[in-house]
Amino acid sequence: MRADKILVIGSEGQLGTVLSDALRNVYGASNVITSDINVPKSNYAGCFEQLNILDANRLFEIFKKHKITQIYHLAALLSAKGEQNPRQTWNVNMNGLFNVLELAREQNLDKVYFPSSIAVFGGKTPRKATPQFTVLQPETMYGITKEVGEQLAQYYYTRFGVDVRSLRYPGLISYQSPPGGGTTDYAVDIFHKAIAGEQFECFLDRDTRLPMMYMPDAVRATIELMNAPVDKLSMHYGYNIRAISFSPEELAAEIKKYIPDFHIYYKPDFRQKIAESWVESMDDSFARNDWGWKEEYDLSAMTEDMIKNLQLLRSKDTSEYDKKMIL
Ligand code: SER
Repeated sequence: MRADKILVIGSEGQLGTVLSDALRNVYGASNVITSDINVPKSNYAGCFEQLNILDANRLFEIFKKHKITQIYHLAALLSAKGEQNPRQTWNVNMNGLFNVLELAREQNLDKVYFPSSIAVFGGKTPRKATPQFTVLQPETMYGITKEVGEQLAQYYYTRFGVDVRSLRYPGLISYQSPPGGGTTDYAVDIFHKAIAGEQFECFLDRDTRLPMMYMPDAVRATIELMNAPVDKLSMHYGYNIRAISFSPEELAAEIKKYIPDFHIYYKPDFRQKIAESWVESMDDSFARNDWGWKEEYDLSAMTEDMIKNLQLLRSKDTSEYDKKMIL
């Protein structure tokens, strides 16, 4: 077995920031190369390469320079931003993935990770305990690129033996890094407003329930899936994966237990329609049976941890906090 040398693409994003740290802990800092179209914002320690994922030559250069054996390909435009520029979303999300899969095929990489999303579902998908195999028909360009991405991942595995693995993430909630351009972003923004003592204008309606997951669970799920023996996996496209489901009203009620004065009001915009095309909860028995997935954080444990950590970050250095967290 050759030594693992990991490239994270999109390391400056919400997931990339936290996942890169976790991978450095598991594999050692010198074995994790991070890359992004944007250079790191602050306090960065580690090996970083600037990369536009549409530049296949630059990707090859980085692969060769660092003798990469695995790629976590996280770079993509999300659902809400994607609707503002469908052409660019198709281009970045599809051609970016294609460049990664082609490199993996040509250079015989050990593994590739491709994040999928609840955005693969559409209005015709059953909304509760959504089965793994069901009607998809996504209604956003982001969701379409994730659905096609899943098909490509499975195709590269069966046709070329490229070991691609994928999870259908719910909305991800984290204190370390802000999300950007998604429909589930409200569930992070709400915490920042609450701890700043401000009221929160929510772009989704009070009772719009969506599947969500706290970042430590998402990172652990990703690494566990990537380290599962290949013969345990029944698929190489997006696994349904479940942790929590809640509505803005339910989340606000939980936050009020810590910040009683917190006030939320609702002003749904175009993102409401996107959220309504998604589902409330997923049946993730394949993930549980194949590689033993189990979440740790429920709504109250997540809320408590988010508030504790954000208050700590803010009390340490307000200007650093603002630079990192305010979109
Ligand atoms: N969190 C993503 C979004 O809202 C869904 O994968 O776009």
